Amino acid sequence: MSQFWKPGTEKPRILDDEEGGVLFFSGTPSSSSGFRYSSIEKQRQRLPVYKYRTAILYLVETHATTIIVGETGSGKTTQIPQYLKEAGWADGGRVIACTQPRRLAVQAVASRVAEEMGVKLGEEVGYTIRFEDLTKPDVTVVKFLTDGVLLREMMDDPLLTKYSAIMIDEAHERSISTDILLGLLKKIQRRRPELRLIISSATIEAKLISAFFQTRKRRGLENEELGLQLEPAILSVEGRGFNVQINYAEEPVPDYVQAAVSTVLLIHEKESWGDILVFLTGQDDIDIAVQLLNEEAQTNGKNTSGLIVMPLYSGLPRAEQELVFSPTPRGKRKVVISTNIAETSLTLEGVVYVVDSGFSKQKFYNPTSDIENLVVAPISRASARQRAGRAGRVRPGKCYRLYTEEYFLNKMPAEGIPEIQRSNLVSCVIQLKALGIDNILGFDWPASPSPEAMIRALEVLYSLGVLDDDAKLTSPAGFQVAEIPLDPLISKMILASNQFGCSEEIITIAAVLSIQSIWISGRGIQKDFDNAKLRFAAAEGDHVTFLNVYKGFLQSGKSSQWCHRNHVNYHAMKKVIEIREQLKRIAQRIGISLKSCDGDMQVIRKAVTAGFFANACRLEAFSHNGMYKTIRGSQEVYIHPSSVLFRVNPKWVIYHSLVSTDRQYMRNVISIDPSWLLEAAPHFYNLQRLKPITH
Ligand code: CDP
Ligand code: MG
Repeated sequence: MSQFWKPGTEKPRILDDEEGGVLFFSGTPSSSSGFRYSSIEKQRQRLPVYKYRTAILYLVETHATTIIVGETGSGKTTQIPQYLKEAGWADGGRVIACTQPRRLAVQAVASRVAEEMGVKLGEEVGYTIRFEDLTKPDVTVVKFLTDGVLLREMMDDPLLTKYSAIMIDEAHERSISTDILLGLLKKIQRRRPELRLIISSATIEAKLISAFFQTRKRRGLENEELGLQLEPAILSVEGRGFNVQINYAEEPVPDYVQAAVSTVLLIHEKESWGDILVFLTGQDDIDIAVQLLNEEAQTNGKNTSGLIVMPLYSGLPRAEQELVFSPTPRGKRKVVISTNIAETSLTLEGVVYVVDSGFSKQKFYNPTSDIENLVVAPISRASARQRAGRAGRVRPGKCYRLYTEEYFLNKMPAEGIPEIQRSNLVSCVIQLKALGIDNILGFDWPASPSPEAMIRALEVLYSLGVLDDDAKLTSPAGFQVAEIPLDPLISKMILASNQFGCSEEIITIAAVLSIQSIWISGRGIQKDFDNAKLRFAAAEGDHVTFLNVYKGFLQSGKSSQWCHRNHVNYHAMKKVIEIREQLKRIAQRIGISLKSCDGDMQVIRKAVTAGFFANACRLEAFSHNGMYKTIRGSQEVYIHPSSVLFRVNPKWVIYHSLVSTDRQYMRNVISIDPSWLLEAAPHFYNLQRLKPITH
């Protein structure tokens, strides 16, 4: 493989490999050194954190906050909640919580812990993610949940009284909800000295988090008599990992998907046993890579015999997720093609080779244009090191970076930027307001958001009628919007549907918009796919098209064959039905009556406008290539080819989100009448901005 790859010059890390064996891992039966299964208890004891069990429990007992830093795979997530339970933190009806930024990690980890504890998932060990609650009141004592869900729980229980200990896991990810939680928990601790906080993180960015908790300004020493230390304790769990040899591409690669596929094939051909983990960016490029590898297997069987190719991304059906964690059959090689979820949140046993594209999908927000994008962007050097580390789990491994060493050293940022500094803050502001935190700029942030972004958010919330002149939540609208666990723009759309008499339809649309995609597309079937879509396409746009698909699905008796025939994702549709049921319940709770508009598309579009007026765009008068400009920021945008309005180009549209590749593309688009913008948001569309509407 030498013609393409160049070994890195950085000195390999010499890591602790004192135990030197891999025999305790259940996931490597293809090991040439043989394979022995040992009991779950033994496996638990061999994890690096086990040595620190007593220390961890002592620190948690005596410190309000304990920060635990350790390599991925050392057992932080799966073991610490169990240690706490064993030590009695769940006695007397109390609950131990462990948060994760990613839903898929919540599910995977909860299911693993239930298995280790020998209980049924959803009983003593359960999980909650948005729209899915697998816990039982008074039974569940170890609860995994997303950071976002814990934040929501504070709306009903501001001091989180049912929890005795809360572990904020994967803190290094610096997700927006984790950052907000850290700030809020610091406050809660003052009121609840008996609450214990455990903050755990992979080896990146831990310093900043500990500094955040150290700079606490504590008044009074009221807890001294409890023997409780208020300064945080920091414990570093020494990792076990093997050397990973880093190889860089000699030349920049023009197409990282293709390069990843070729690299997998080369590894399979030249290298000894061991699974391969490939880091790409999202469902779209992962599906393509999976398909390319499978095609290769069909046309060039010998080359790929023994390869089992699997995708890994959020939104994957549960059954497929579980396959990823199942042991590789003897004589086979597993190739998992993943988003950065496998970077630190999930450990896959048996990985010896890592192929790193150097990219991930990241959110970026520009407060000037008020545009938030999901962009494929270079990862940080810290992330690249984490990714490489995944190859050294069972024995010395190799990492193939699909970028040059020069690029790694000089072009990649050292560390990532916290999500709060690259996000639209509308959701964040409304949640804090709902929790009674009014001085948002003065809030104790682990990393402060930009004042411009904050002002933009306040402005939007004000025009949505969610905040009043004093920047307080309006009653009832503001509280109602805050109550719905969705993007406030969607929540406002739902609220507006009540007045327009189309809540049944809008709730369906909201359910569809809250999952990734209801379609199944793929290379080579584009034409079929486009035809299938045409059957549902509505002249008004994608939102109404969703209603047609939903209706078709119900009429088919929720048939999976029907979905298959129409390139509709069956699992996604089942999820839509589930989410819809939950949204219906929430809507009824906040006083929205369920009503159908019986095909009056105008009111549906008006309700969408009531929530999404800020995303209005106008077709450029002399544009021959479908160029639109946003009304608020005059940004150039185009209708995404996946939209039913692609090439139709109505004069006025509203988009749901933007994706940026070579251009800014609007995804999920609906046509509107510009006069509705004025009705929906007179303050927002002041005279200045209205000018283009009048000519
Ligand atoms: O949180 P941290 O990265 O420190 O480690 P962990 O997620 O607690 O994983 C500890 C061990 O449990 C690893 O050896 C994982 O492979 C194993 N595990 C697993 O086999 N299946 C899961 N779904 C989760 C963890
Ligand atoms: Mg973990």
